[in-house]
Amino acid sequence: MRVTVLFGSPNPEGTTASLTQSFLRALPEGTPVRFFDCAALAPKSCEGCGACEASGACKYRDLDDLFAACEDCDVLLVATPVYNYSVPAPLKAVFDRCQPYYFRNFRAIDMPTDPKRRGLLFITAGRSGKYSFDIIKKQTGIFFKNLDITYTCGRFYPNTDAANFDFSVLRADDIARVLLREEGE
Ligand SMILES: Cc1cc2nc3c(=O)[nH]c(=O)nc-3n(C[C@H](O)[C@H](O)[C@H](O)COP(=O)(O)O)c2cc1C
Repeated sequence: MRVTVLFGSPNPEGTTASLTQSFLRALPEGTPVRFFDCAALAPKSCEGCGACEASGACKYRDLDDLFAACEDCDVLLVATPVYNYSVPAPLKAVFDRCQPYYFRNFRAIDMPTDPKRRGLLFITAGRSGKYSFDIIKKQTGIFFKNLDITYTCGRFYPNTDAANFDFSVLRADDIARVLLREEGE
């Protein structure tokens, strides 16, 4: 099972990292994992220039490896904290840079589909607001749709800013085990 991770938190030791590591640690040794730290990548943001509509490709090349890894994987994990109801800016830049896929897929009469590629979404939120996760779920849904990836499941943890928040509840090892079992069936 080839896994690509788009890690949206700028904090390498925070709640999103804990949750992501719980998933990754449950994979067998040697599992091919491509990990993209979006904050470290500092992607260029989409300028809406329209170049990709004409040519099919972005004029910037800084995300070529990232998008190649999103296309060439079995599982794509998006892991992010909530920032003002949305994702941190570098991950938002990745989402926006999907315009070439948008133009390619939705203008094609026979859009090629690969429903076997599966998408996971992990979110942490400082507070326990009723709508904390809604916008990110929608944004990531569009992202997966652009990339022709099937959303499969997610983990959504509120209240992480509470003084007594217990990091040990941040777990996704069970998701890894289910995916591995299904792969073997
Ligand atoms: C700039 C910024 C904006 C935030 N906005 C929200 C928000 O809108 N709603 C919320 O519940 N938490 C918000 N938080 C709290 C984070 O979602 C929470 O602390 C998260 O667990 C941080 O993840 P990390 O430990 O991976 O950095 C915000 C935090 C920061 C730094």
